[in-house]
Amino acid sequence: MSSAVRRAAEVLRAGGLVAFPTETVYGLGADASSAEAVARLYAAKGRPADHPVIVHFASADGAFTFAREIPDAAHKLAGQFWPGPLTMVLKRSPLAKDFVTGGQDSVGLRVPSHPVAQALLREFDGGVAAPSANRFGNVSATTAAHVVEELDAEFVLDGGPSEVGIESTIIDVSSLKLVLLRPGSISKERIQDLLKITIHEKKSNSPRHSGGLERHYAPKTPAMLVPPHELDAEIARRVDTVAVLAFSKPDERVDYWIRMPKEPQAYAQRLYAALRELDSARCATILIESPPETAEWIAVRDRLQRAAG
Ligand code: TXA
Ligand code: MG
Repeated sequence: MSSAVRRAAEVLRAGGLVAFPTETVYGLGADASSAEAVARLYAAKGRPADHPVIVHFASADGAFTFAREIPDAAHKLAGQFWPGPLTMVLKRSPLAKDFVTGGQDSVGLRVPSHPVAQALLREFDGGVAAPSANRFGNVSATTAAHVVEELDAEFVLDGGPSEVGIESTIIDVSSLKLVLLRPGSISKERIQDLLKITIHEKKSNSPRHSGGLERHYAPKTPAMLVPPHELDAEIARRVDTVAVLAFSKPDERVDYWIRMPKEPQAYAQRLYAALRELDSARCATILIESPPETAEWIAVRDRLQRAAG
C-alpha cells in the first residue's frame, strides 16, 4: 500500500477532507462517524445540510453495519454488483447519524471498486462519507485535476480518469417496493433480471436527493439539448458563439466542437471532461446533440437533461 494512501487515511482520522478516485467520479471524503468532519465536507461543497450523503466502505460487511434491516434483495445486489458503481439506500442503523442521512431514517451505502478507493477504505477501516468532489450543482469531477479546480481538499489522491464517468446507480431497497433513484451504468434492466421483480421509477423530484434537482451536473454556460435532425438549423439560427457536443463531424461555422463516441459507456466516460472543456470555451451557448431514446442511453440522457436544466 502506498504512503499516499496511508497519509490520506491519517487525514481522514484527523477529521480532514480527502478527495479520492472512484470508478464513477471522484469523491470528497470525510470520516462518516464525525459530525465535525462531515460539517466541513458540506461547507467545502457548498451543499445544504439536510441533503444526505453516501457512505463508502471497503466491503459489503462493513457497509451493512450502517443498515439495520438487510433484505434479501440487498444481499443479492451486493453479491452481484459490489464492489462497483451501485449505491443502495437502506434503513439506517444507529451508526448512521443524522448528519450523514440528512435526518432521514435511511442511509445511502456504496462499496466502490476503484483500487485506490479500496486501498483507502481498507486502511481507514470505517465509513467514509463522500459526495462527488465538485461544488454543489456543478459538473462532477472525473480526474484529480478537476477536483483541484473545484475544491479545497487537504489531500487529493490521484487515481487517473474515472472509468465509468457518471455517478453510481442509486436504488432504494429500504421498503418492499424497490425504487430507482438515479440511473447509472448498472441499468434497471440488469437489476430486474437479477432480482426477478419490477423496479419502480422515482416519481417526484425530491430535494432529498440532490441528483434529483432539475438543474444539477450543470456547466455555467447555458446548455440546450437538440435533436440530431435539428442541429444544423439550430447552429444556423445562432448569432452568438456556440460550443457543440455532438456525434457528427465538426461544422466549420461552430467555434468549439467536441465529437462524442456513439457507444453509451464510452460517451459517459468522457462526458464531464467534455462539458468542462466546452464551458471553458466561454461561448454564449452549448448545444448538445441528443443521444438516441433507447434504454442503454438512459443514464447519459438523465445527466444531459440536468446539464441543460
Ligand atoms: O458515484 C457516486 O455515487 C459518487 C461517488 C463519489 O461515490 N457519489 C455521489 O455522491 O454521486 P453525491 O452526494 O454527489 O450524490 C449522492 C446522491 C444525492 O443525490 C443524495 O441526495 C442521494 O445520493 N442520497 C444519499 N443518501 C440518500 C438517502 N438516504 N436517501 C435518498 N437519497 C440519498
Ligand atoms: Mg454530486
